[in-house]
Amino acid sequence: MEVRSSTLPMKPAEMRAALAVHDGVLPTLRDDFDAGIFGGGNHRCRVLANFGVGYNHIDVAAARACGITVTNTPGAVTDATADIAMTLMLMSARRAGEGERMVRSGTWEGWHPTQMLGLHLGGKTVGIIGMGRIGQAVARRCHHGFGMAVVYLNRSEKPMDIPAERMDNITALAARVDVIVVCVPGCHDTHHLIGAEVFAAMQPHAHVINISRGDVVDEAALIAALQSGQIAGAGLDVYEHEPKVPAALIALESAVLLPHLGTAALEVREAMGLLAVENLKVFFAGGTAPNVVN
Ligand code: 8YV
Repeated sequence: MEVRSSTLPMKPAEMRAALAVHDGVLPTLRDDFDAGIFGGGNHRCRVLANFGVGYNHIDVAAARACGITVTNTPGAVTDATADIAMTLMLMSARRAGEGERMVRSGTWEGWHPTQMLGLHLGGKTVGIIGMGRIGQAVARRCHHGFGMAVVYLNRSEKPMDIPAERMDNITALAARVDVIVVCVPGCHDTHHLIGAEVFAAMQPHAHVINISRGDVVDEAALIAALQSGQIAGAGLDVYEHEPKVPAALIALESAVLLPHLGTAALEVREAMGLLAVENLKVFFAGGTAPNVVN
């Protein structure tokens, strides 16, 4: 077994070498296993046990074409990622980043009745895009914690233990809600799913939160919507070209920007690692790994 001492992304040559010399590889988010890395070749590697639920950095079709199975760690990330969605939702709605910057800059003149008024979340409506595990965890927090109404967009109806209405039209959902939370996986089908059309449909007091993958939101369209006041705010944990964050986004007081903290808690990362190792163990024991992705 080889354990990398660096936590920085693997370079292409290192990824190719890993496929050549190891039976299994446990990659992370920034190890970009694109089609060129697999090269259609015969590799020793038979399984890529991804550390994390999102696997848009792995060309699964190219891996499969070389006989390599890909697994992920869905159960381990759910609550922590939903918690970051709530953090962003509260920070954006209640202007927490802006307020903190004011205090730190020494420009706060003291409390007054109309200072920095934000959006009260209690009783408002949240629109969840993608009602998978994380979407459902966000929905439960919104319902039980804030008494929010929940509407959602999903390929299929999700039987849930809280009231939640499925909508089939993204712009109708955008027009109806006070907060959108983006929870769909990043992939070809969801690229720029949230773009100019969605922002135009949203109410001017509404906020958009993204905890999935950066490119699900059209970043340029989001910047334009925030600059023009078409929407009130955005809370982002992910970006189109991480770790690059556009200067125009950084300049916006109405954007809350976190550095992909979704699962950044020690016990969560340990649980993710253990689940990835479990996938490897079951795979090499000849069984079907619990979290094979298709
Ligand atoms: C992980 C994530 O930290 O699970 C995911 O998909 O986005 C992150 O929270 C990352 O994937 C680690 O590789």
